[in-house]
Amino acid sequence: PGLMVYDPAFQNTAVTRSSITYIDGDEGILRYRGYPIEELAEKSTYLEVAFLLIYGELPSKDQFAHFSDEVMRHTFLHTNVSDLMHAFNYDAHPMGMFITGLAAMSTFHPEANPALAGSDMYLEDSLVRNKQIFRILGKSPSLAAHAYRHRIGRPYNAPQRDLSYAENFLYMLDHLSEPNYRPNPKLARALDILFILHADHELNCSTAAMRHIGSSHVDPYSAAAGASAALYGPLHGGANEAVLRMLESIGGVEAVPDFLQQVKERKKKLMGFGHRVYKNYDPRAKIIRRIAYEVFDICGREPLIDVAIALEEAALKDEYFVKRKLYPNVDFYSGLIYKAMGFPTDMFPVLFAIPRMAGWLAHWVESCQDPAGKIWRPRQVYVGPTKRGYVPLGHRD
Ligand code: CMC
Repeated sequence: PGLMVYDPAFQNTAVTRSSITYIDGDEGILRYRGYPIEELAEKSTYLEVAFLLIYGELPSKDQFAHFSDEVMRHTFLHTNVSDLMHAFNYDAHPMGMFITGLAAMSTFHPEANPALAGSDMYLEDSLVRNKQIFRILGKSPSLAAHAYRHRIGRPYNAPQRDLSYAENFLYMLDHLSEPNYRPNPKLARALDILFILHADHELNCSTAAMRHIGSSHVDPYSAAAGASAALYGPLHGGANEAVLRMLESIGGVEAVPDFLQQVKERKKKLMGFGHRVYKNYDPRAKIIRRIAYEVFDICGREPLIDVAIALEEAALKDEYFVKRKLYPNVDFYSGLIYKAMGFPTDMFPVLFAIPRMAGWLAHWVESCQDPAGKIWRPRQVYVGPTKRGYVPLGHRD
């Protein structure tokens, strides 16, 4: 009674109004706050885009200086969070460590927890909101770098505030013992562009999770940990890792036809292909494919690119994929770049989660400010038994 619509997997449900990101899936268009993704990738930086997504406008020079200073001032991890990361096995998946670190941060900032503070301060106070935004943007790369360093058995490197966001992340990963060590600026720029491309994508699974969890007015660290968990899955942000494993298992161009045949027989999935919204080429995948070659010029050509290109070319001509409008998505080529840059495969979803934090926070802020905001509570169609009488255990066969 009272149920309006049955819409499995939210395929046709708008649950909020939003002015953050626009997608036209048929035309392959993506804009953040009205700005085309291609233009932002060419001219902007990740932190500027984060500001744009969260606050709605490109920052003035002063606003940008203040914002980036605040974010970079919040890059240090609390020693106990750092100690917590050491509790994991050396081969723990970095995404599990990242999610745990984020969730733990909620306990380090109890003043950020509306339940403990006794008021819905996020709804009322932009200063309190901003403090958590600076912390989450600042500490996410540090958590990721910590997970990586733990995995390779090396000590955690302290962040460098005077570097750019992407440079600092690379520094924390690589930091050699020379005092003046600086990451390669071209690689830092390539990573920054990848961060821009991954920063938001309207109501994807993890962003919907961020809004859903946040609608209970829990603190944003817990909500972002939940969103990260949603991102981890291979149908979402874990797809970049799954693509690389798929390309490795195919091995060479000659095995592509056989692999595609298995996909068509539904024995396998072509990871990095298909999208709920895009029924055309994902505009992010086009840019990423170009960046791949720029990175190869510096780091050396990743041979699996040939397998990826052969897969794409064959799939785009094949009736199975054409009929279903399946094109490469953002995850198809990104893993090849990360591999060429030397990242271990299981770091790939973390490299998606770091920049998506800006989008999650933008949606969290928008939902805090939404006068129509309420706790999210979907309905279901009950298909279980009708009323039954209880039979005591001793009377059951
Ligand atoms: N390989 C083979 N067949 C596919 C694929 C694929 N990658 N994607 C969709 N299909 C088929 C699917 O079997 C279905 O066929 P039929 O109508 O005959 O049953 C048809 O295409 C429609 O697909 P769907 O699964 O109903 O579409 P969806 O909107 O529910 O799922 C998706 C979207 C992204 C989960 C899916 O395309 C997929 O699993 N892709 C592979 C994983 C992947 O690359 N995920 C990253 C998505 S983009 C970035 C992100 O969100 O993180």
